[in-house]
Amino acid sequence: MTISIPGEQREKLLVNITPQLRRRLKVRSAECGMNVQDAAEHAVSRWYETPATETVETTGARSWGVMLPGGGPERFAAECATRSITKVQGFAQAVELWLEAHPSPATPLIAQPAQRILVANQKGGVGKTFVASGLAQALAELGYRVLLIDYDPQGHLTSRLGLDGIEDGDDSLLTHMLGKSKRDIRDLLIALDEERFGQRLHVLPACDDAFLLEAELAVMRHGRDTCLERALESVEPDYDVIILDGPPSLGLGMDVAINFVRRRDGERANRSGVLIPVWADQSSHKAYRMLNRQIEAAVELNRVTIDQLGLVVNAYDARRGATVTKNFDLWKERSNPSVIAVFKDLKEGRESADYAIPLLDYAPDSDLAQAMRDLALELCA
Ligand SMILES: Nc1ncnc2c1ncn2[C@@H]1O[C@H](COP(=O)(O)OP(=O)(O)OP(=O)(O)O)[C@@H](O)[C@H]1O
Ligand SMILES: [Mg+2]
Repeated sequence: MTISIPGEQREKLLVNITPQLRRRLKVRSAECGMNVQDAAEHAVSRWYETPATETVETTGARSWGVMLPGGGPERFAAECATRSITKVQGFAQAVELWLEAHPSPATPLIAQPAQRILVANQKGGVGKTFVASGLAQALAELGYRVLLIDYDPQGHLTSRLGLDGIEDGDDSLLTHMLGKSKRDIRDLLIALDEERFGQRLHVLPACDDAFLLEAELAVMRHGRDTCLERALESVEPDYDVIILDGPPSLGLGMDVAINFVRRRDGERANRSGVLIPVWADQSSHKAYRMLNRQIEAAVELNRVTIDQLGLVVNAYDARRGATVTKNFDLWKERSNPSVIAVFKDLKEGRESADYAIPLLDYAPDSDLAQAMRDLALELCA
């Protein structure tokens, strides 16, 4: 296919590329202030000058089009034939070369180790996913680089952000935790496209294999407590904050996640830890007592410090009667952890979830979005 632009003839090279490689090219070219098409064209030119190039994984490549100067597609096909490789392989090599030559110019990280926050409560439906996602969005909007992990087999976080889960059988967080992955964990991450997040908010989606997490952890003979941090250690330095959306359970997966957010050597108090959404109802108080026992047990048995960063009273509506306001007052009386945010029950919370649009993009001026920003500043400023 050939199209004309003023002063120059350009032609489209139709070539397959994996979604992961395409995403990395897109993010990096944006970081370098370049158009992704220009970056792809540079990549191909550079590849011509580099005869010996390593083979790149191309499984799952999907079609894409790159505009090249006139004659470009033909020259590219001929060069691939000379090197006895497919066009898909040739293009993947070109992109990898370009990425290597253009390291991320991102501003230095604010602090390391990455701040790690587990949003947890075994009580179902209290707003863990809502808080984890909104907090991550608010932090990315503020300029932090955020990794948001769907750590719940239900995969609600993934679907509510409009993302596809990882297919069962592919590399996943679980395979990385078990040390059974062959590819870089970065290949699993998806950058949210909304402009306000500036390509700083990356999501590790859920995979159906997460239902096996408890069973796999139960038979893991060595290194169970640290398997999550081993899975994430290569990407941890890329982020200012890592947020885990916890499952509604108190199983071994929770023990592992609690250990991941422990206070590390030299880390200041109340920086990493557990953030606990609750409702202003009686059963939330009981649920908190159980969660607290699990955290205390981890502290005692593993000889670690786990900070409870705060309680978030969610979906609060004082009009629901005296028991609600009474239970709310009981939360407010608490210290360590104390209530650090209150989110009202508002339609934007449900709508953004139902429409699978991030809250801060769906309703940026809403009270809930503003409360998320306040929470982000409270935890990370
Ligand atoms: N403050 C709020 N206002 C309105 N709707 C909310 C609010 N918080 C949460 N919701 C909605 O309530 C439902 C349950 O919230 P969410 O899924 O975040 O809870 P959860 O604790 O993650 O649940 P699970 O235990 O199943 O993981 C969702 O549909 C969510 O969009
Ligand atoms: Mg959830």
